This record gives sequence, structure tokens and C-alpha cells, in this order.
Amino acid sequence: MSDNRAIGIFDSGLGGLTVAREIKRLLPNENLVYFGDTGRVPYGTRSHDTIKKYALQDEQFLLSHDVKLIVAACGTVSSVAYDTAKVLPVPFVEVVSPSVKAAIRATKNGKIGILATSATINSGAHKKQILDVLPNATVIESSGTLLVPLVEEGWTGDNDIIALETLKRYLAPMIEQGVDTLILGCTHFPVLSGAIKNILGDKVTLINMGVSTAKVVKDVLEGSDSLNDGSTVAEYKFYASDKTAAFKQTVRALLGERKKDIEIEQVDVEKL
Ligand code: DGL
Repeated sequence: MSDNRAIGIFDSGLGGLTVAREIKRLLPNENLVYFGDTGRVPYGTRSHDTIKKYALQDEQFLLSHDVKLIVAACGTVSSVAYDTAKVLPVPFVEVVSPSVKAAIRATKNGKIGILATSATINSGAHKKQILDVLPNATVIESSGTLLVPLVEEGWTGDNDIIALETLKRYLAPMIEQGVDTLILGCTHFPVLSGAIKNILGDKVTLINMGVSTAKVVKDVLEGSDSLNDGSTVAEYKFYASDKTAAFKQTVRALLGERKKDIEIEQVDVEKL
């Protein structure tokens, strides 16, 4: 059996494209529908109630596109609004648990850093899951609030002075404590990997939540016999609640789409 409906992916903005890229790499036959809530980004500084309300609307939008599975490609939604998935009629994949498992596999000294939004850090989601498996681990958390607008603005070059100085401040506790593994706990942050490596060097393993999450998506679809049969070329559809230049550029940079192929449709999720 196969299921040729699309995989639905959403995030507060362009960060989830880092997850979409990994899903595309691992599952090239799959159709993808991506929604970026660029008109309401950031989510990471908002209350739990607001994040849940937005997550439900984003999920409903994807369901209106008849998707077969929904990926919350957002660390913030995965940490504080995962219970919105209980009402979904399709499987739901979040990004926290796959990345925690990857970090546990990667660490040698048991010192794991988490760089995420303040809502994610305050939820303690990653930390709890790490300590459940490795009770003696040292977990160092840092809220990288200013990094989300930097990414949305496209100030992400490996040597971008503003990005480097901002990152240095957020990463200082990780360096002090000697972490050997750092979870990029917000899906916006893999875009800053080059700058982060310039600060931390090669000895710290960076965990990109997209890589581990794509494997879970594959397992879920394989397990339910719902992979696309590849009879047609995969299609990618992009929707955003505001059309920003950075969103379009990131689609092109991360998903390797040619300029003429990129259609971004603007939608008002509040009106659904
Ligand atoms: N990309 C998101 C995350 O993974 C959200 C960033 C934000 O909107 O604050 O947490």
C-alpha cells in the first residue's frame, strides 16, 4: 500500500524549512506542504495559551490540504503545545524527543547544552527527557531569544559580526561548562550552524532537530505503509501568513528550488 497525500509541516516562520530540507533529503518522493506563520513570528516569547491557539490553527490549515501526517517543525510548539496533537486525525511528529535521543547518543562527557527559545527552555522539555535517561547528565540551557529575529532578517553569515557577538553571549555558559553536545532546540538555529561552529569549534557536536525528526517521519510512514509510491515527481507547496523576502530566500537556499519554481501563497490562518 502507499499514500500519495502530502506531508504537512509547520513552524512560526522559516525555521521549519530546516526540517523540511531533511525530510526532502531522506524522502525525495514525498509531496510537502509547508506553512510558515511569518505574520506572527516569534512564538517563543508568547504565553502557552497563545502558542497552543496558533498551533491548532496551523494544524487545521494543514489538514485543509488533506495531509497524511503533520510535523510540528518548531521546538516551541513541540515543547509546549504537543497536546494539540491529541485531536488530530493524522499522525503527528514533533522535534524534541528525536533530538534528545540523538544528543544522548552523541555525548561522551554527559554535558549537553540546549539553545532554544525562552518558551522551550521554560517548559524544561528537553532537560526532563535527557535526565530521564541520563540522570547524572549536566544540562546547560540558554534562551536565544534574539537569534530568531536575526534569522528571520537573514543576518546569518558564518562571519556576520552581529550574529557572532549575539551567539557568544548565549553560548558563554556552554563553553564555561565544557559541553560536548549542543541541541539546536529551535528549528531556526541550524541556519546559524556555521557561526556557531566558528565559536565552539569542531569538538562540540551540533544536533540539528531536522535530521533526527526526518528519520522518525520515515519510520512512521513505513510503519503504516503510507510512503509515497514515487509514481509522480514530488511537489512542494509553500504557504506563509506574510510574504517576506527572507522566507523566499530561505526556501531557495535550503530546498534548492529554482527561482521560477518558488510560489509562496499568503494565507490568513485566523480566517480558516
Ligand atoms: N522555530 C521555532 C522553534 O523551533 C520558533 C521560533 C519562534 O517563533 O520563536 O522554536
